[in-house]
Amino acid sequence: MGCESRVVEIVDNRRWFEPAGYRLTVTAGRGEVAAGQFAGLTIPGAPSRLGRPLAVYEADDQHWQFVYQVCGAGTGALAAMPPGSRLECHGPFGRELPWPGRPGRVALVAGGAGIGAFLLAARHLRRQGCAVDLLAGFAELPPDLDEFVRLGVEVRPASEAGRPGWPVYPTDYLDDRTYDWVYACGPRPLLRAVGHHPRLDKQRTYLLLDENMACCLGTCRGCVVDTVHGKRAVCADGPAFPAGWLTSL
Ligand SMILES: Cc1cc2nc3c(=O)[nH]c(=O)nc-3n(C[C@H](O)[C@H](O)[C@H](O)COP(=O)(O)OP(=O)(O)OC[C@H]3O[C@@H](n4cnc5c(N)ncnc54)[C@H](O)[C@@H]3O)c2cc1C
Ligand code: FES
Repeated sequence: MGCESRVVEIVDNRRWFEPAGYRLTVTAGRGEVAAGQFAGLTIPGAPSRLGRPLAVYEADDQHWQFVYQVCGAGTGALAAMPPGSRLECHGPFGRELPWPGRPGRVALVAGGAGIGAFLLAARHLRRQGCAVDLLAGFAELPPDLDEFVRLGVEVRPASEAGRPGWPVYPTDYLDDRTYDWVYACGPRPLLRAVGHHPRLDKQRTYLLLDENMACCLGTCRGCVVDTVHGKRAVCADGPAFPAGWLTSL
């Protein structure tokens, strides 16, 4: 899978969940995208031209979609871009997620915009015959997650705002069901909670890491993390690593 740079046009860029969660659709990049891969978006008006890495949420011949949380100057400028605007899209970068290789029960644990890494993953896992639960935590209400339900995924919502019958955190669901494999994407406290969870096998628990990136190709070494196998670049060797590999979490 080669990675390319091209100018794409925004087709849709709308608020998807609160607070400040957006869903972005752009004219497609070429080539296939595998679950776990991400694009770097160079955003006009942002203080730096560094591509902001965003997981590809959905991809077909016509469009790529992303889910993002406004959390700084770049994503703030992106949220203000109307349909018809153009921006540079680089990638896809990163490795395809490591897969179980046999059917089993899988949890996808998402915090907020971390859900952006999981639609392609859910589709692949369902095709492999896995039972998939999406443990999806949001500060407020979740967005419409019917596209997961249509894949046969059980959506298990959580909200920090307190909803009757829902836990506060998606990780609370890890106590009441046994999972063979777990993938987690979201804020660092969520990754820590999943990575250190006593019920989970650390070699079958994959954490999708978020590090600041520049080249996205493994050359600048700006995104390296320490693992039991030495230093690894999140952009080129990840973004997913078994929790048991990470020496500081
Ligand atoms: C593999 C991967 C996938 C991701 N997927 C998603 C996703 O699907 N959805 C999502 O919401 N988030 C995702 N993220 C996180 C997302 O990339 C960051 O939230 C985003 O880059 C923040 O950009 P910002 O400009 O808004 O924030 P800021 O904090 O303003 O900037 C982020 C970084 O950009 C650089 N930068 C900014 N300004 C300057 C400057 N003036 N000079 C030099 N450098 C500068 C710095 O490295 C800074 O730390 C992902 C991250 C990774 C690594
Ligand atoms: S961003 Fe340059 S090595 Fe990862």
